[in-house]
Amino acid sequence: MSKNITLAFDVYGTLIDTNGVVYLLETMVGDKAKSFSQTWRDQQLEYSFRRAAMINYVSFATCTAQALDYTCTYYKANLTQEQKNELMAIYAVLPAFDEVKEALVLLKEKGYRLFAFSNGQKSAVDKLLDNAGIKELFLGIVSVDDIKTFKPSPGAYAHFLRASEAKGDEAWLISSNPFDVTGSISSGMKSAWIQRSSEAIFDPWEIKPTIKVSSLLELTQKI
Ligand code: LAC
Repeated sequence: MSKNITLAFDVYGTLIDTNGVVYLLETMVGDKAKSFSQTWRDQQLEYSFRRAAMINYVSFATCTAQALDYTCTYYKANLTQEQKNELMAIYAVLPAFDEVKEALVLLKEKGYRLFAFSNGQKSAVDKLLDNAGIKELFLGIVSVDDIKTFKPSPGAYAHFLRASEAKGDEAWLISSNPFDVTGSISSGMKSAWIQRSSEAIFDPWEIKPTIKVSSLLELTQKI
């Protein structure tokens, strides 16, 4: 069953924990660290959506850096350029979620074709996965940077299918980001939504995830 099935794993928020910056932020903005981290992430994504809609591409790292500037202004946090550089540097070595490695090993053993599929540039994703000790489990990394747009543009998912030599009905997007799940299904893929927190909300659209699980380990039993 799993022979020709391709799994495309979203990276930031699905394999890699973007809240890994919180401990460093605590030393800079104190008890605002958690909400600062969330605003930074939300703004990073909003910038990527707007860049894609405007067809005015910059790298995901630039979206991240510009979102950091926005967030500093929003929270009236007077961070120095050196502190901002430190935060960006942590972003490059964020940790994987706890269950990720075990789940990927199980899925690989079952014969699934595993790929990482990200808005991030290939070099950044390569470094992250290597640092988390999971890079060798993937057949490859596919980045939207190749075609200068961002998810959830349909071109991003078409690019993934071409690059991974997969067919839409045999390819699943695995993501904790609802916009990525709806985007991939809208482009003809199947998709598993990883609801990492019971507070995470799926958009009340006409498009629903193919399956919903609470972790990648649960995915290994459901897919
Ligand atoms: C990614 C972002 C969307 O890795 O999380 O593509």
